[in-house]
Amino acid sequence: MTIWALSDLHLAFGAPSKSMEIFGPEWSQYAEKIKTNWQQLVQKQDLVLIPGDISWAMKFDDALIDLQWIDELPGTKVILKGNHDYWWPSVKVLSSSLPKSIHFIQNNVFNWNGVTIGGARLWDTDEYNFNSVITFQDNPKERTPLQDTKMREKIFCRELERLKLSLKQLNKDATVKIAMTHYPPIGLEMESSRASKLLEEFQIDYCVFGHLHNVQREKPLFGEKKGVRYLFTSCDYLQFIPLKIV
Ligand SMILES: [Fe+2]
Ligand SMILES: [Fe+2]
Repeated sequence: MTIWALSDLHLAFGAPSKSMEIFGPEWSQYAEKIKTNWQQLVQKQDLVLIPGDISWAMKFDDALIDLQWIDELPGTKVILKGNHDYWWPSVKVLSSSLPKSIHFIQNNVFNWNGVTIGGARLWDTDEYNFNSVITFQDNPKERTPLQDTKMREKIFCRELERLKLSLKQLNKDATVKIAMTHYPPIGLEMESSRASKLLEEFQIDYCVFGHLHNVQREKPLFGEKKGVRYLFTSCDYLQFIPLKIV
């Protein structure tokens, strides 16, 4: 049994006008690339973590085609909401209507074969930024409105509380503890952050996240700090190949 992670699939079967193919040759036929690599690597008994930005759909009904596409790939999957997952419905709908092989993290945990998984989306924070490693590319189809610092901080603090709420429920006897966040919980310099301190407090072994795109691959990013291994898993950064975690 192996655990894999691949974030930011940005599937667009339910919203074809938003396909990531506009971002150039790297994204050409990205869904096919993901499918081929996934089928080659992941076995039926494996687990795949998908920490956010799963589908471009606006409504759950439109996201179902993307979710069914994921469901048909091998393995058990765990999803977390990203900032672009506008389709994300209530916990009640998630619990009753997600395809069978897909589980979700939202103020809860998922336990699987001695592995315990929690998490929260997080948000932008003034504690760190990634401008030095990102090649900026404007997306004409999607513009995130600029937020003032106060609002950003308010959302970030709320997300930290959600992360804590989830991590408190982790199975203490689990052999592996994993956190999923959509936004990176720590900066490139690996300076302690509010989120990293929480992950340390709950003795997380691996934290997987994504959100950033067009990240330069020249040197390895993130790494280990105080027992927590930080794994950046955006699919364009990983060249659409799921990353083996454990
Ligand atoms: Fe994304
Ligand atoms: Fe994102």
